[in-house]
Amino acid sequence: MKADVFTLFPQWFGWFAEQRHVANALASGHELHAVDPRATTPLKWGQVDDTPFGGGAGMVLRVDVMEAALRARYDADPVELPARRRVIALTPGGRLLDDAFASELAREPDLTLLCGRYEGFDERILEHFVTEQISIGRYVLAGGELAAMVVLDTVLRKLPGVLGDEASAVEESFSEALAGAPEYPHYTRPAEWRGWTVPEVLLSGHHARVRDWRLEQARSRAHNGPLP
Ligand code: ADE
Repeated sequence: MKADVFTLFPQWFGWFAEQRHVANALASGHELHAVDPRATTPLKWGQVDDTPFGGGAGMVLRVDVMEAALRARYDADPVELPARRRVIALTPGGRLLDDAFASELAREPDLTLLCGRYEGFDERILEHFVTEQISIGRYVLAGGELAAMVVLDTVLRKLPGVLGDEASAVEESFSEALAGAPEYPHYTRPAEWRGWTVPEVLLSGHHARVRDWRLEQARSRAHNGPLP
């Protein structure tokens, strides 16, 4: 996968790229580029945003600035991009990210993520340059960067070879393997701590029984609502 993140804070992604599973993804040939619209702005003094027409608080990311950044990166008119690749704006009101959506994105060869700041994007960016908007929850962040990292974190760990243990992204919370249920509980050594024991079946070495128990646990968690 080749992922481009358009952000006014490209240095934030330096830290992100060093995290183990992201670094693994990059080492195995996937790409992550942070693109700074300030570097290609047609305006003076690195200006990228402006006050909203009609008044109101905050600043809005300008459509001409985003167009220049996308043109410079893809050597194309950005209105043509949505037909060629997914161009995603991070917005609080967008489609909510969940495991199925992340799996869908993980199948894409190319992703473009646009991070807004301040009051967000000029609406014409959303209308003409993007395929969709993604939200990581119904609350407002100061910008799309953390949301982009959340999206990339969950998408990259689904790519083959990125996690140490191949199985671990298949059978986990909300995955198809668990029929969309939260994951079953895990235990490790010590088998007893302060009188708190581990379910006997997990110590039995009986793989079929372990499997049944885990599926049952995942199912009952699904029916009982969110975990406390
Ligand atoms: N930008 C600001 N808030 C956001 C959110 N909750 N999800 C995605 N992008 C955002």
